[in-house]
Amino acid sequence: MPHVLHAEHINKYYHDPVTFQVLNDISLTINKGEFVSIVGKSGCGKSTLLYILSTMDTDYKGKLEINGELITGQQQNYLAHFRNQHIGFIFQFHFLLQEFTVLQNVMIPALKLGVHTPREIEQRAMEKLTLMGIADQANKPAKNLSGGQQQRAAIARALINNPTIIIGDEPTGNLDSENSIIVFDILHELTHTHGQSIIIVTHDSEFANRTDRIIEMHDGHIVSSHSTE
Ligand SMILES: Nc1ncnc2c1ncn2[C@@H]1O[C@H](COP(=O)(O)OP(=O)(O)OP(=O)(O)O)[C@@H](O)[C@H]1O
Ligand SMILES: [Mg+2]
Repeated sequence: MPHVLHAEHINKYYHDPVTFQVLNDISLTINKGEFVSIVGKSGCGKSTLLYILSTMDTDYKGKLEINGELITGQQQNYLAHFRNQHIGFIFQFHFLLQEFTVLQNVMIPALKLGVHTPREIEQRAMEKLTLMGIADQANKPAKNLSGGQQQRAAIARALINNPTIIIGDEPTGNLDSENSIIVFDILHELTHTHGQSIIIVTHDSEFANRTDRIIEMHDGHIVSSHSTE
């Protein structure tokens, strides 16, 4: 299977207050259409790894390739553009602009990318909101939505540029089990229908068990990586 992300010998240190190694020789490959979860105790380095894989953190040793492009060593403006085009990031807290409408929030990354007309972008944003089951909420200010609806709006926003990879840091951390299942099903559907790859950090073992592969971390190392079938 073709891979979309390949990380090799990633090492990272923090120096504050003393030097310690937060990631220790991490190597991993994510295939096209694969849905992977990353699990491990609080503080083991999951978020740190995600920030590197999503090209937001460039301060590490090792090599990162995404979509066949070498990411390591690239300039910030290249990375910002690459990220907007290829990576959809979903956070635990959704960071929607509260005073803007849901539709406007979803459109922003595509307007920034500047490839399509605002009219096309609006149409695409509505498609994503429909996919998330919240098209009827499009014209409300984000602050008027429920927590689960806001998280789904944030996912629609992460999908607007049809990213190659969707990366989430505990995207269901603030959702009840019903909404977690809805989010899981939507993500699962994307890997099957659009061949997108997904990497999700989660503390929810039920969620992890339903993904294709679980990568387990401990103290900055990958200690296991196994398919769930
Ligand atoms: N900017 C920083 N400077 C120094 N140490 C940091 C910094 N950011 C994180 N750390 C430390 O690095 C380690 C890994 O943090 P990280 O946030 O990656 O953990 P995590 O696995 O995501 O945990 P959680 O499940 O609680 O979110 C922790 O010991 C944390 O205290
Ligand atoms: Mg974390």
